[in-house]
Amino acid sequence: MKKILITGGAGFIGSHVVRLFVKNYPEYQIFNLDALTYAGNLENLKDIEAEPNYTFIKADIVDEALMKDLFEQYQFDGVIHLAAESHVDRSISDPLSFIKTNILGTVNLLNAARAVWNGNFEGKLFYHISTDEVYGSLGEEGLFTETTAYDPRSPYSSSKASSDHLVRAYYHTYGMPVVVSNCSNNYGPNQFPEKLIPLAINNIKKMKSIPIYGKGENIRDWLYVIDHANAIDMIFHKGTTGETYNIGGINEWKNIDLIKKMCEVLDRKLEREPGTSASLITFVKDRAGHDMRYAIDSSKLMKELGWKPSLQFEEGIEKTIEWYLENEEWMNRITDGTYEKYYESQYEKR
Ligand code: NAD
Ligand code: DAU
Repeated sequence: MKKILITGGAGFIGSHVVRLFVKNYPEYQIFNLDALTYAGNLENLKDIEAEPNYTFIKADIVDEALMKDLFEQYQFDGVIHLAAESHVDRSISDPLSFIKTNILGTVNLLNAARAVWNGNFEGKLFYHISTDEVYGSLGEEGLFTETTAYDPRSPYSSSKASSDHLVRAYYHTYGMPVVVSNCSNNYGPNQFPEKLIPLAINNIKKMKSIPIYGKGENIRDWLYVIDHANAIDMIFHKGTTGETYNIGGINEWKNIDLIKKMCEVLDRKLEREPGTSASLITFVKDRAGHDMRYAIDSSKLMKELGWKPSLQFEEGIEKTIEWYLENEEWMNRITDGTYEKYYESQYEKR
């Protein structure tokens, strides 16, 4: 039986990856290691927590000795590393926690794997999950490819860029089998409502203003989270060691157009007069160093491994909105005092 460590499995993307692996690979033992920070929520995995091939380990990847002990104890064969501080705005107010988790935490995992694998890399893989933000910001034209030079601009993307380089350094220096993927903006169920799409759904539902940074002209490429999880499955099993794969939705939206689209869908679903939700749009102070446009070329992944996004955005956003409306309790439990306090403090600053 293969022992697979998935870090950050209680978070948004991680929980979808854990579910996919637990369900599709009963022959694997899946270990979900997560510190349960504000972003980690085991409720995301309620439906699979009793499965015999699933184990949860509460641990902080910044704890070097603990990572060594856990690798010794469990002898993991594969690592899918998603644990990270993931929100750009938080990285602007508190860069150090990003450096600790995203850089130091990644090196702790690499060192622990290296110590236990001890040069015997047969059947082993360290798969690092990263972001398209490492490539910087695009103008009106062009797409990020796997060979685009790194140009991170926020503390978040700089910490992820650093971790990407370190993972590749362990491949070149120690021969550790690694693979890296860089993905665009994910959306779907279970995303923490500090990120644009769930934040907007929550605010629209509660008739609160929708904060749009700057003029709302920044562009993001959106991918349904299950499509990212499927790409991760494919790359983990069929990707070439030492390679990088870009993952994106071929689905660029200006923030303001995305929000207007969501307002239309929510007016319909909440049976409001057309235009009611859009009246909540509020332009606020721009994010510092706000990257203008991300767009990604996934043709390597599509050609080499046969991956493609399964959902059109119109279908994906409807499904996502429905999920948040049907899972009010999930959202209510998340938006308790702690979250509200953070949200209010961010909002006051603008
Ligand atoms: P998230 O913030 O929802 O979840 C992160 C998880 O990591 C949480 O469960 C948290 O408890 C855990 N964690 C944080 N610090 C930890 C630590 N020190 N030790 C152990 N666990 C810790 O993040 P997400 O949006 O699901 O992103 C997951 C990964 O995918 C990240 O590496 C992120 O950089 C990358 N990524 C995200 C997106 C996106 O759009 N969300 C896109 C591309 C890549
Ligand atoms: O590109 C991949 C990245 O996508 C991931 O690596 C990050 O972990 C993930 O958080 C996401 O980063 P973004 O900064 O693009 O996502 P966010 O949802 O925070 O913002 C999306 C866009 O919306 C961005 O241009 C900023 C803007 N925005 C965001 C918030 C939270 C607003 O206009 N208002 C808001 O309130």
